[in-house]
Amino acid sequence: MTILLLGSGGREHALAYKLLQSPKCSSLFVAPGNAGTAEIATNISINPLDFNALKTFVLQENVEMVVVGPEDPLVNGIYDFFKNDPEISHIPVIGPSKIGAQLEGSKEFAKEFLVKHNIPTAAYDSFTAATVEKGCEFLGTLKPPYVLKADGLAAGKGVLILTDLEEAKKELRNMLLHAKFGTASAKVVIEEFLDGIELSCFVLTDGKNYKVLPTAKDYKRIGEGDTGLNTGGMGAVSPVPFADAVLLEKIESRIVKPTVAGLQKDGIEYKGFIFIGLIIVKGEPMVIEYNVRMGDPETEVVMPRVQSDLVTLFQAVANQKLDEADLEIDPRSATTVMVVSGGYPEDYGKGYEISGLDNIKDSLIFHAGTKIENGKVVSNGGRVLAVTSFGDDFREAIKKSYQNIDRLHFDKMYFRKDIGFDLT
Ligand code: AMP
Ligand code: GLY
Repeated sequence: MTILLLGSGGREHALAYKLLQSPKCSSLFVAPGNAGTAEIATNISINPLDFNALKTFVLQENVEMVVVGPEDPLVNGIYDFFKNDPEISHIPVIGPSKIGAQLEGSKEFAKEFLVKHNIPTAAYDSFTAATVEKGCEFLGTLKPPYVLKADGLAAGKGVLILTDLEEAKKELRNMLLHAKFGTASAKVVIEEFLDGIELSCFVLTDGKNYKVLPTAKDYKRIGEGDTGLNTGGMGAVSPVPFADAVLLEKIESRIVKPTVAGLQKDGIEYKGFIFIGLIIVKGEPMVIEYNVRMGDPETEVVMPRVQSDLVTLFQAVANQKLDEADLEIDPRSATTVMVVSGGYPEDYGKGYEISGLDNIKDSLIFHAGTKIENGKVVSNGGRVLAVTSFGDDFREAIKKSYQNIDRLHFDKMYFRKDIGFDLT
């Protein structure tokens, strides 16, 4: 089977690695991909948002399945684009419909869905420029810290958590009246602050049936001890040691089941991944966000632990037969550490030559921001490489990742040395 995978990060390299383990995958294209995917598949330079160019390509190459890594093509309606075009409607797209993608594309849509289906989440209200003063009043009724969320996609930057009421009102005005996050903050969700530990749950669904994938925890801050600016993610651990059977059962019965049932009830087509961001408050899971894709770097620890054939699972998703598919998970722990370019998530350089990739022993390297220049692998983004390792527990796994990072080098290379520090 010929498969086209969209995206260019560590998540896509990990998905490509997993797809290629399937005997069913005879040919894999990645658009646009990176130096890591170029080693194992064929990169093509098509923008995943250029649906017409994708159509021409899939027809020309007889692509039989499209797997979507990032959220933007989904929010822009790639699923519906394929479904509604008779020339390509037979090609399954792994991902939700445009309306399903609103679970990530609009925080307000997600909150309404959660409340409607009785899924535990923080209390909230939403505001626009016309109701900005009401929003300020609402903030006055809440206890600090204050959580402000831009409604739309803001490249992971649209959430502000502020301790001072006046600062929160100022930022609310900045978001609504001065387009702090562009059109994404034309509407703002103000939410009750949840105090607890975070955990991510991943689900693969065909819109009717589902499989719960391994849990993972990512480390979002740039600095050790979870300090400094938010990033796309600096490392991840799977499984999450504190996610015991009792908690997993609560997550499945109170959150996963009603989410999939809610999609079905609301007539929302959804054939793909759901990434549920949770905060565990005094042992009780609450949803803080939905994403309609896998996480990055969580994919780099979740996918290596999936032992079942991913193409078979995706075929079952496309045919709404996921109930008949098996999901086998490697019981070992996996950890990943992101190696980034100094300065990230603010200004950073690109084009640094990466050395040591051939010296890696018993870790998997997933390229995040890399490309090939004059035959050499160079950095091409803030997050450059994800170094994933297995172990009997996360400590053993993380030790291997750090040993292998010592074999890598590029100018201004940085990584957090404390991934997993808060886990016991
Ligand atoms: P989100 O983009 O919704 O994942 O939010 C980004 C980060 O903000 C999350 O990973 C949490 O750390 C934090 N966050 C979001 N919502 C809340 C909340 N209601 N209470 C506490 N922290 C939150
Ligand atoms: N690591 C968080 C995300 O992918 O959104």
